[in-house]
Amino acid sequence: MKKKVLAALLSAAMVATLLAGCGKKAEEPATAPAETEAPAETPAEEPAEAPEEAAGDFADKKVGVCIYQFSDNFMTLFRTELENYLISLGFVKENITIVDGQNDQATQSDQIDRFIQQGVDVLIINPVNSSSAETITDKVVGANIPLVYINREPDEAEQKRWADNDWNVTYVGCDARQSGTMQGELIADLGLETIDKNGNGKIDYIMIQGDPENIDAQYRTEFSVKALEDAGLEVNELFNQVGNWQQVEAQTLVANALGQFTTDIEVVFCNNDAMALGALQAIDAAGRKVGEDIFLVGVDALSEALEDVIAGTMTGTVFNDHFSQSHNAADAAVNYLTGAGNEHKISCDYVKVTKDNAQEVLDMVK
Ligand code: BGC
Repeated sequence: MKKKVLAALLSAAMVATLLAGCGKKAEEPATAPAETEAPAETPAEEPAEAPEEAAGDFADKKVGVCIYQFSDNFMTLFRTELENYLISLGFVKENITIVDGQNDQATQSDQIDRFIQQGVDVLIINPVNSSSAETITDKVVGANIPLVYINREPDEAEQKRWADNDWNVTYVGCDARQSGTMQGELIADLGLETIDKNGNGKIDYIMIQGDPENIDAQYRTEFSVKALEDAGLEVNELFNQVGNWQQVEAQTLVANALGQFTTDIEVVFCNNDAMALGALQAIDAAGRKVGEDIFLVGVDALSEALEDVIAGTMTGTVFNDHFSQSHNAADAAVNYLTGAGNEHKISCDYVKVTKDNAQEVLDMVK
């Protein structure tokens, strides 16, 4: 495996993060992680570059990881990288337990209870519902276990409790406003003349949202449109529905929207790439052509979406850096174990992806 660094693609701010060990793949373990049903891994070619914090011995440390739903494409990339990176830091595969919340908060709460009973040393949690964070935090902090939230950001009031009480709790994630803004810019940069096929002087769009409980979905929806308006474009929302981050649901919704509004639809915003892939199936079936009479953007930079951007069948996407996020989450866990501690929020940057840099991003994520 070659190490591929994204530095050339990124802003100076992000380069600093990369130099700290993020934005690239962890060394891979010699065997497939059974709990996560990941495909067999090839042996690592190079020794792990463990950060300074990894000087401790983590071989006997038990890590519990709760993922909201294993079938989520993005969270599959995230959890696979998280496990590989933890192993590269010296944790033992048998002591890393990753469980599937099956998109059900009650199931996940039981899993958290079980981890507490087993006496894990640290918990990394991708909550099913961010609004359950208060209950989760109380339980985990009550058991004196450090807690790293990932991907679904608990609200400000909840984060304030961690700071006020000086609890060992942090959130690792990117600011979804940035990804929404980048989606809007990908469209705005094309210019009104290119997009406005029906000549009404407006950007006529449809919006396919992820789970509306999730702040990522809320912000991407809001900020993608705001970026168009900030660029001085007039917008017209034709359709806005929830596809729950799922390809199949999005395909059905976009097929319905295309049936209803036909050629008036100029832009399809999807809160993630899985849904953009579903949208593309519906667009193809309707005989429309991305880049010619309709424009389509997603978020995540899944390999399949990147291939579409390269082929021109997707206008663009936004790289949701699962390397940085999973590495930062593991490093935060380490910092709690060593007593170094963490800030209560650890951020990273998204990267805008167009035809110009899609191949480079693909080489890195593959
Ligand atoms: C990703 C989505 C994913 C969601 C899960 C988002 O950040 O963009 O693809 O489904 O997280 O919470």
